[in-house]
Amino acid sequence: MSKAVRFSRFGGPEVLVLEDVPTAEPGKGQVRLAVATAGVNPIDWKIRSGLFASGDAPAEPQGTGIDVAGTIDSLGPGVQGWRVGQPVFGKAATGAAATHTLADSAKLVAKPEWLAFPQAAALPVAAETAYRTLRLLGVRAGQTLLVHAVAGGVGLVAAQLARAWGANVVGTASPGRHAFLRELGVRPVSYGEGVEQRVREAVESVDAVLDASGRGVLGMSVELAGSPDRVITIADPDAAAHGVRFSGGGADEVAMSEVFAEVLPLLERGALRLPIEQTFPLERIADAHRLSEFGHLTGKIVLEVG
Ligand SMILES: NC(=O)c1ccc[n+]([C@@H]2O[C@H](COP(=O)([O-])OP(=O)(O)OC[C@H]3O[C@@H](n4cnc5c(N)ncnc54)[C@H](OP(=O)(O)O)[C@@H]3O)[C@@H](O)[C@H]2O)c1
Repeated sequence: MSKAVRFSRFGGPEVLVLEDVPTAEPGKGQVRLAVATAGVNPIDWKIRSGLFASGDAPAEPQGTGIDVAGTIDSLGPGVQGWRVGQPVFGKAATGAAATHTLADSAKLVAKPEWLAFPQAAALPVAAETAYRTLRLLGVRAGQTLLVHAVAGGVGLVAAQLARAWGANVVGTASPGRHAFLRELGVRPVSYGEGVEQRVREAVESVDAVLDASGRGVLGMSVELAGSPDRVITIADPDAAAHGVRFSGGGADEVAMSEVFAEVLPLLERGALRLPIEQTFPLERIADAHRLSEFGHLTGKIVLEVG
């Protein structure tokens, strides 16, 4: 048997239940992981709350969590290039918040020894999203990128990747984050009333905008960048009304191998940092979801499992 956090109805963090479940066998192209750590992302509580569903309950009890790090403990049919006992991280297929989970082998990356399990579980969704959206925007050296919600998981990776590629970065965050953001080479401005003017005062021009906040900033982002083509949101459902692209993964998703060929060397030499705001034991996943939903954090939330 395994232990997994599941929910049988949509709702608040209290619907999450840690229960005994039969240990699943990996299907074709999948591996099973003994989970060490699991990351928490806003998408986890959005799914749990029923935001993307009709009705009060999923068709069957549903697992939670995408970001995972652990050790391969079983290989499914057709899996090549991986071995039992290998430490890996990536995106889980059946809920990362569990003692065991299944993952498509193509969505995993070998975990280098220098990368600790908590840090590894903090990375996959944030890094893939940041890399994907910067590529879609065509960010390059000498340009100025504006990132809304730059102190969040996606924002921090996007800002540091853009800096590594030679771009200037201006980003919105609350004042308490500004000193840390300056350390990373980001020009911070406070969000809220007057933010467009503050951005104009901070930089001469804006070439591209990544909206990771989803809080009604697309109109002014189009004004600042000069065209909706220069703006991408990952969080604002009103994108179409502004002629702006919404990138939600799916067809846009970039292979983990490509993302981490770029990100791991930067992490190893300290040119990219993704702080962990707080870790929780698996049993306290409801508190981890509450903190993520609160929405004011610098970096990631990680569950300690194994
Ligand atoms: N479409 C996709 O593929 C995709 C992928 C990943 C994430 N997302 C979405 O993108 C969003 C960000 O994800 P994340 O993982 O980076 O979230 P996160 O780590 O939870 O980000 C929280 C950050 O948002 C900032 N924030 C709060 N209110 C703000 C405001 N009014 N203006 C600007 N920043 C504000 C907070 O800064 P302060 O602490 O300074 O307030 C905090 O640093 C979420 O909605 C998530 O669901 C979408």
